[in-house]
Amino acid sequence: GEVIHIPDTRFSFEGVFGTYDRASAQRGFQVYKEVCASCHSMRLMSYRNLVDLGLTEQQVAAIASQVQVQDGPNDEGQMFERAGRPSDRFRSPFPNMQAARAANNGAAPPDLSVIAKARAGGADYLYALLTGYSDPPAGVTLAEGMSYNAYFPGHQIAMARPLNPDQVEFADGTPATMENMARDVATFLQWAAEPELEERRSMGVKVILFLTILAGLAYAVKRKVWADAH
Ligand code: HEM
Repeated sequence: GEVIHIPDTRFSFEGVFGTYDRASAQRGFQVYKEVCASCHSMRLMSYRNLVDLGLTEQQVAAIASQVQVQDGPNDEGQMFERAGRPSDRFRSPFPNMQAARAANNGAAPPDLSVIAKARAGGADYLYALLTGYSDPPAGVTLAEGMSYNAYFPGHQIAMARPLNPDQVEFADGTPATMENMARDVATFLQWAAEPELEERRSMGVKVILFLTILAGLAYAVKRKVWADAH
């Protein structure tokens, strides 16, 4: 089929010394919570994971308490609803795949826990997808309920354009343009899929530093030991 070129978007987490822009990732969580979460689950995430994103324990407890979760059975054998706790997984929008399909024109919205790793192009693809909606080019007819997207394989996607300007309001004053929201949610989803990236990189840098010093020492010792050899 057609080869779709995904444009390269600059992200803070790229490169050997790249780290997650925490403010961006926090705004991205807000975008997920207020926009994407009505259709997409993130079943591998717990609310307490957000502490690693720089939220306080109190903020996390407040976010968790806003959702109702199923629990039980209690002593009487009954299932019941209660306010969420930090240890709960993110609440899923649909009870099962059939309900998810039925609500979305036959296509189930995929779980977003590791989507940044699951799709070729990673965060670049997510950004391109979210900003890639347009009217179909002349001659292209869309099936009922489908949208045209330049970067989705086949170009017909069952997800209507999810991001529109000013859809959320950021507390830090960042303008909620489609591009800013797309970059922030792509950063959040990359962090969710690869939270250990920073540690892995800084370990790599330490290992290289250690090996460099060791090589220098080995060379100095070799020169000394063999100094009178000829
Ligand atoms: C598919 C992200 C909001 C419904 C997808 C995919 C991603 C994604 C990455 C997978 C595309 C692929 O397979 O390559 C997001 C993000 C959102 C968002 C980041 C928030 C900014 C929504 C909303 C809805 C929705 C609000 C429902 C109203 C769907 C559906 C699919 C999908 C039905 C499957 C599309 C298909 O296979 O044709 N979304 N989404 N999404 N999303 Fe969303």
